[in-house]
Amino acid sequence: MNRLETIVSMVDKCNVVADIGTDHGYVAEMLLKNGICNKVIATDLNKGPLQRAIDHLSKENLKDKCDFRLGSGLKVLKEGEADAIIIAGMGGDLISQILDDSKDVALKASQLILQPMTATESLRKYLFENGYEIIDEKVVKENHFYFIIKTKKGKTKKEDEFYYEISRILVEKQDETMYEYIEKVLNRNEKIIRSLEKTGKEEYNEKIERIREKNKRIRELIKWI
Ligand SMILES: C[S@@+](CC[C@H](N)C(=O)[O-])C[C@H]1O[C@@H](n2cnc3c(N)ncnc32)[C@H](O)[C@@H]1O
Repeated sequence: MNRLETIVSMVDKCNVVADIGTDHGYVAEMLLKNGICNKVIATDLNKGPLQRAIDHLSKENLKDKCDFRLGSGLKVLKEGEADAIIIAGMGGDLISQILDDSKDVALKASQLILQPMTATESLRKYLFENGYEIIDEKVVKENHFYFIIKTKKGKTKKEDEFYYEISRILVEKQDETMYEYIEKVLNRNEKIIRSLEKTGKEEYNEKIERIREKNKRIRELIKWI
């Protein structure tokens, strides 16, 4: 399954889904064609992408099942209007900001499917610290590793910072693509250690030790699993 198919596969059947930052409208199309929801609120901050979605969904004869809205983040939604909210293809910090700007709307949805392009770590941190629980995660490798996080309002719990970067759920699921990702993280960290060591500067010793400890913990974790 590719990135968009995986996002859609993680949505539980419901009445209304909001696709924030819809752009081409492919997610809305898949949701409706697969009978996952009856209506999609397709939104975008920019006119061009929203028009692309209108054109595409009209061509697919799905326009009547869509409500198109121009505006930023969740500000275009009323509290409780969408059962599920998808925010995909944006930076993790922007996704956190969108959630934070409209807490009531976000926490009211029974499922949020979030797919950050960057800063996945800080998005997980935001969720853990702001009253969300992560219900599920998937990772897709295209040219890049894409993490897809399914979340909803839950108990704020103190999560070990290590798991901001290394998804606990995906490790526990023994996900094969996650193992590939972990290999990449280990190699990247080794490369950083080597280049810091090469400088010969003592000021980096603490950082080198921290990265070594992290890699040790990652290796122990995958051995234990
Ligand atoms: C890279 S596209 C992602 C399209 C689609 N969601 C996907 O995952 O393939 C990002 C879209 O988000 C829109 N966008 C950026 N900031 C936004 C915001 N604050 N609120 C709503 N849409 C936003 C952009 O205009 C663009 O169409």
